[in-house]
Amino acid sequence: MQELELILDEALKQFAATAQAAELEQVKARYLGKEGSLTGLLKSLGRLPAEDRPAAGARINRVKQTIEIALQARRDAIQQQALQQKLAAEALDVTLPGRGLDVGGLHPVTRVLDRIETLFHSIGFDVATGPEIENDFYNFTALNIPQNHPARAMHDTFYIDEQHVLRTHTSPIQIRYMQAHTEKYRSFQTMPDIRIIAPGRVYRVDSDATHSPMFHQVEGLWIGEQVSFANLEHLISFFLTEFFENKAIKVRFRPSFFPFTEPSAEFDMRWKGGWLEIGGCGMVHPNVLKHVGIDSEKYIGFAFGVGVERLAMLRYGVNDLRLFFENDLQFLKQFN
Ligand code: PHE
Repeated sequence: MQELELILDEALKQFAATAQAAELEQVKARYLGKEGSLTGLLKSLGRLPAEDRPAAGARINRVKQTIEIALQARRDAIQQQALQQKLAAEALDVTLPGRGLDVGGLHPVTRVLDRIETLFHSIGFDVATGPEIENDFYNFTALNIPQNHPARAMHDTFYIDEQHVLRTHTSPIQIRYMQAHTEKYRSFQTMPDIRIIAPGRVYRVDSDATHSPMFHQVEGLWIGEQVSFANLEHLISFFLTEFFENKAIKVRFRPSFFPFTEPSAEFDMRWKGGWLEIGGCGMVHPNVLKHVGIDSEKYIGFAFGVGVERLAMLRYGVNDLRLFFENDLQFLKQFN
């Protein structure tokens, strides 16, 4: 039957010419579908003489099988091709160099702060903090700083409004801590010693090789029934020798003045043939204790404040404090 040969031939050609799965199914319908040419032939068998029907039916079925096998083969091929294309599109070149992850590190000032905290922790000091925007009472009044003190002047201090400033030192944290402490032990006959350090950012209108408008201080405070200036002197010397891991360190105390301590001193360290000021200290003024409700007849204590960048300069041999805040990676990488 020549027609059957033609159908087979055409079907195989069309399958081969089809590249899409959906299109292939449409092509299939032309032969094997309800209206398909092969289906039509099978239906027409009934018109043949009865004795010819089995042979004709068998031939048509063989062609049908051949077409079905070819169809399935084409389906598989199309699927394979699609898979290959997908794989090629998503291929990874494992020989490319990696993008690399930069590892961050701690800022030298953070390292120094961590070191100070660890050191004071080891001798029983807690760490206290406070807000960077302070009000007039905590930053000045409670610290016995009078109205006409230069720290109160506009040219020395960043004012937010009439009542608020960017704190000029960490000393207001002393006040906040002492208030909370006395409140906590109000109903007791006595209160345990206060032993804290208070690290934080402070702000002043100041900028040169050893000053920055924003810098860090660590405040220290020890209040108890028997705390002396000798204890203060010893603590600061202890701190500096431990901090610098150097027993031969030279520290000097100079008499000085702070409204919130009496007597007061400043302490310096030997640096580049001269002396570099590290901080201020003194015995807490009775007026300050009064402001926070501590009986100054019963309790006494000392406070000190150190500049953290100064300590970092000395520890790492940096000669300009402003380098710490320029965010130059070349500089910062040296500390990690
Ligand atoms: N608050 C002082 C300053 O910033 C430092 C200081 C702290 C002095 C505690 C005495 C006691 O200059």
